[in-house]
Amino acid sequence: MDMQLHRDKWQIHVKHFYEYITTRLLHEKTVRIAGINQVDITRDIGNLAHVHFAANMFSLPLKTAETPKGVFTEHELWMAAAVIFASVFHDFEPTKSHPLRKVARKLAQALGGLIEMNVKTVIGTSFASKLIDSYRESDNPLAAYGIHMIRALTETGMSAHELAFSQILPTAAAMIPIQGQVFTQLLDFYLGPGDQHLPDIQKWAALDTAEADDKLLHYVQEGIRLNSTFGMYRHANVEHTFEEYGRQIHVKPGDNVFCSFVDAARDASVFPNPDVVDLDRPMDSYLHYGMGPHTCLGKGMSQIALTAMLRVVGKLPGLRRAPGPQGELKKLPRPGGFYVYMREAQDSVFPFPTTMKVHFDGSVPEMPTTAKE
Ligand code: HEM
Repeated sequence: MDMQLHRDKWQIHVKHFYEYITTRLLHEKTVRIAGINQVDITRDIGNLAHVHFAANMFSLPLKTAETPKGVFTEHELWMAAAVIFASVFHDFEPTKSHPLRKVARKLAQALGGLIEMNVKTVIGTSFASKLIDSYRESDNPLAAYGIHMIRALTETGMSAHELAFSQILPTAAAMIPIQGQVFTQLLDFYLGPGDQHLPDIQKWAALDTAEADDKLLHYVQEGIRLNSTFGMYRHANVEHTFEEYGRQIHVKPGDNVFCSFVDAARDASVFPNPDVVDLDRPMDSYLHYGMGPHTCLGKGMSQIALTAMLRVVGKLPGLRRAPGPQGELKKLPRPGGFYVYMREAQDSVFPFPTTMKVHFDGSVPEMPTTAKE
């Protein structure tokens, strides 16, 4: 029996949205050169799908050909989210810290202000906001989730300003670059060291069954485990001494410790044969969404989104890297197994992947009929 019957409605909506937007972006962004299709799978697909998701969910005014009066173009919105996120989590270059924080503040104020306006129309009681509200709910399921989330959050007593700046803006600004980064990292793996799995991914991508969803989800989890760069800060509760990078490290209770997941994700006691893609690993063994009370709130949504995207990209016949440097994900190593990425012109680095071009044969799959924006 199809797993979709056992799914909550929101899961089906998220899946359909991501299948729709990934296909639509592929149609829009693919160029055909000498009979070969080329697309920047990072810049124009992996990074932008989540921009559209967040824009739909939180009614952010995207500037597109159909909506020229919008405020941010899709690439601008990605960059705004990436800069805001980087100013919190990647502010490690002293000479760039001041300009980074200055720009991030400006962008956060602009984006947060637009979110606050949306929150006000959702919780407002005016005739106009009710009218906008009823239009949105019937027209767009993702916006309806955004509206319900805003309403639930207002029950905590937060003002529209607090809600926009302390809840929605951080969530949107984090999910856009993280989701994009993870998608590129897992695809980089299956177009690189894990490319022997690509034919099997393509086989499952062609099927829309519960079993295919499950296999693709496991491929997503394994791709993230083997090629992603995550970690988090934790307060130490116990004293501990260990060696890392040739140095003795002494941790005292109360110390703030950065725990990288890169090595932990290959811990053979948790992941037997750690360097091998194994689709039978228990889903709760994966670390990359965190653990305990602060486990990632977007875990379920992220897994459905990335699985849907892998399915669409897995349908591209003859998917392969573009030849030469443009098909490579150029990155520079940082301590702890982390990376920074070269920008397209290769003149500077950025905390998130910005470009990786692929080729494929045939044509982009037909637009799914299941969802619209
Ligand atoms: C739909 C996309 C996503 C959304 C909406 C989202 C949202 C969130 C939120 C709100 C939290 C804070 C939870 C809390 O403190 O109680 C969180 C935590 C976390 N998220 Fe996500 N996230 C998303 C995608 C991801 C992805 C793709 C990863 C990595 C693969 C990830 C890894 C984490 C981790 C490790 C934490 C825990 C951080 C800590 O405990 O310090 N998230 N996420």
